[in-house]
Formats: sequence, structure tokens, C-alpha cells
Amino acid sequence: MSDAGGEGGVTVGLLGCGTVGAGVVRLLDEHRDSVAARVGAPVELGPVAVRNLSRDRDVAVGRLTADPREVVDDPGVDIVVEAMGGIEPARGLITAALDSGKSVVTANKELVSALGAELFALAAAKGARLEYEAAVAGGIPIIKPLRESLAGDRVRRVLGILNGTTNFILTKMTEDGVGLGEALAEAQRLGYAERDPAADIEGFDAAAKAAILASIAFDTAVVAGDVYREGITGVTATVIAHARRLGYVVKLLGIAEDHDGEVGVRVHPAMVPVSHPLASVRESFNAVFVQADAVGDLMFYGRGAGSLPTASAVVGDIVTVARGLRCGERNGAQPAVGRRTLRPFDEVIVQYAVLLDVADEAGVLATVASAFSDHGVSIRSVWQDGEGDSAQLLLITHAACERDLQATLHDLRLLAAVGSVANVMRVEGGEV
Ligand code: NAP
Ligand code: HSE
Repeated sequence: MSDAGGEGGVTVGLLGCGTVGAGVVRLLDEHRDSVAARVGAPVELGPVAVRNLSRDRDVAVGRLTADPREVVDDPGVDIVVEAMGGIEPARGLITAALDSGKSVVTANKELVSALGAELFALAAAKGARLEYEAAVAGGIPIIKPLRESLAGDRVRRVLGILNGTTNFILTKMTEDGVGLGEALAEAQRLGYAERDPAADIEGFDAAAKAAILASIAFDTAVVAGDVYREGITGVTATVIAHARRLGYVVKLLGIAEDHDGEVGVRVHPAMVPVSHPLASVRESFNAVFVQADAVGDLMFYGRGAGSLPTASAVVGDIVTVARGLRCGERNGAQPAVGRRTLRPFDEVIVQYAVLLDVADEAGVLATVASAFSDHGVSIRSVWQDGEGDSAQLLLITHAACERDLQATLHDLRLLAAVGSVANVMRVEGGEV
């Protein structure tokens, strides 16, 4: 440990002082005494790298630099906190820090979900730690609970509302009847959205987080590119209204599950029964619902984004690493890097809600039902709303295989009585 933090103190070098970084500066300052007591030594802020040195910052930052290597290479820095985001230069900087034996705390889900295995291996080889609690669901403790508290159990399924922006948008569309564009603009104004909003609304952000959760829950290396992904751009007011009428709410879910030893990971909008704990997660809140053999069902709920909630997780990791440094611990608990087979998405078994525009004529329902039964997809309930010669049919299936559902949809589109397949949404949290 350096002397920069005082006698036996710990010095933190910060890469980035935006939303998250500024929160870290604030918490390290406000909680200085309790952090020192928990670590057993003072934890001081060292150099801070930003892009724009002349930008106003509403936190007191001591030594600012525009050269992030000054932070990483500073011999007085014990722990490097990466709060810049993106793949490069974050990857190169974290690699350099770990290579020199410095431990790293990051909030960067994009990087961890793409290149975590390489970074964890380097950390292990160098006797350093790489912690990333803030990378998934911001302020909610979920990495350590999955990795450590549940290490004696067998997790079967993780179901999460992992993106605050899309949950905020879906809440506004459901409760206030606003469109996606208006709700997104408000989410951006409130600081929830990523710089590129496609990361949120197209599901990339949730897919990165789902990959990280799957890797820990199932001791396997899952990268974001392995995750089946659909965003919320196809979710319309009509779909939300139908779902509500039938007792469901629409949520963007990240799902990681064990299928007889294989691992399936997917992100898509889903209808969730209002009675399910995830249905009551509103606004920008996140939640992770975990099902494990011994403990049963667990739910972790809270703020998945924002300056102080995210900084709470980062500073928690700083304390963990700093304590380890104080007692000479090498290597923290690193995720296993085995490789379990990934279940192809078309083999996933799930319930579906299929919304059809049809002609309101005798025999249509029977024809539609045959298309489902031809592929072994069993219908659980049917709801019809007619207007003149046309009608909308909403069919909810029993659990069925994605491949069979796609074959059913193919046949439905060929039927003269079916004007269009207006929407297909998976149903989660009920019968499986
Ligand atoms: P942000 O507000 O855009 O802040 C990024 C910071 O990094 C800024 O201070 C910026 O400098 C600095 N920076 C960027 N590139 C740099 C470079 N090449 N050299 C030096 N400094 C550089 O981003 P953020 O929202 O805090 O997010 C940071 C990380 O936390 C991301 O990985 C994000 O995914 C993750 N995260 C964010 C949240 C959240 O609620 N925002 C929640 C969970 C995880 P300037 O200030 O000069 O521009
Ligand atoms: N844009 C992300 C969200 C920020 O809305 O959840 C936290 O990762």
C-alpha cells in the first residue's frame, strides 16, 4: 500500500468524473470516517482523469488530469476506479493497472460483458482484484450475493428488470399513456439513459447485464453477444392495453436459466402477471428475481442507475478491495471461466401471447386454432374484440417451444382469414 493515503492508508485513482465518478468522489468524502473505520485505514482520493479539464464539476476533486495513464501509472495509487465507460481506452487502462498489480473497481458492464474473462484471468495472474458490483443493476447488491452468498446453493433462474430507462418508459406508456419518444426524452432529461439511447431501448444494455449475471449464476463464460436480444421498440399502446385487460404488465426482462445443464440467456419484452413481484417494479427501478434450489425465491430491488446509487456499489467495492489490501489478501473471488453449452434460443420453452388481426367470420377461430395444434402449441386462453367485419384475437398459449411457435406464426401469416400477426410477446412469471 502507498503512503499517499497516510500511514498505511489506501489511495484511489479515478478514471472518469461524470455521473458515476462524481458520485464516488462525493461518497468517499461524505463517508470518510465510516469508510476508514470499515477498512481499518483512511481511504483517500488521488488523481482523477477526465476528458475536459475546464468543465465545471460540482464535487471537490483534488488533482485533475486529462491523461488517464497518469492515474494508472501513479505509484501512489493502490486502487484504480474506472468510471469512464466504453471498451477503449477503458480496457487498455484496466489492463495496465492489473498488469502492474493494482486492483480495479469498474462500473463498466459493456467491457465486463465483452472481455471480462480476459481481465479476470489477468487479475488472477497478477494477484490483483477486479470488482464490478455497479456494472449490473447499479446500486443493487447482486454480484456479491450471487457469487458469494449463494455459492452453496444451486441457482436455476435469474429474471431481471435490468434497465432503468426502459422500465421508466414502459411505466410511463402504461400509466400515463405517453408514446415511447416522449418517455425516452424524459428518461434522458433525468439522466437514466445511456449516451446512445439504442443501448437502452434496443436491449443492448440489459443484454450485457444478463450476460454478466448468467456467467456468475452458472459458473460459465457468457458474453453479451451470446444473448438473444429484442428491445422495446415493438411495444405499442395497443399491446400494453391488451396486457392490462388480461391482468399483465409489460416489462423488458433479462432472463438467465439453467435448462438441464445448458444455459439460456435472453432479453426481450414480456407480459408478467400483475401478481408477480416484478410487476410492481415501476419507474426507473431495477429488480432481480432469483430462483435457487435451497433458498427458493429471492428478489433484489432498488435503483439501477443514477449518480449516488451507482456510487454506493462502487464505494462498497472499494471498501472490499481496500480491506483485502490491508490484510494482504491476494485475489478476490473471481468468476469461474468454464464453458457450459448455451441453449439455442429456438429451443427455449415459454408461454406466448399472440395478437392477430382477423376477419370476423364463421370458422376463423377454428382455422387459427388448427395452425397452433398443427405444431403442438396448446392454447390456454383466447380473447376476441370485434369491430365491423374484423376483429382482434389475443391467444395465450401454454408453455411451448420457440421453434414450434415460429412455425405456427409462419402458417398463420399464410391464412386468408388472418390480416396480420400484430404482435407476439412472451409471457413470464406464470406457468412454465
Ligand atoms: P459519464 O457521465 O459520461 O462520465 C464519463 C466520465 O469519463 C467523464 O468524466 C469523462 O470526462 C470521462 N472520460 C471519458 N472518456 C475519457 C477519456 N478518454 N479520458 C479521460 N476521461 C474520460 O458516464 P457515467 O454515466 O458516469 O458512466 C460511467 C460508467 O458507469 C459506464 O461504464 C456506465 O455504463 C456505468 N454505469 C453508469 C450508470 C449511471 O447511472 N450513469 C449506472 C451503472 C453503471 P468529462 O467529464 O471531461 O467528459
Ligand atoms: N442506462 C442504464 C439504465 C444505466 O437505464 O439502466 C444503468 O446501467
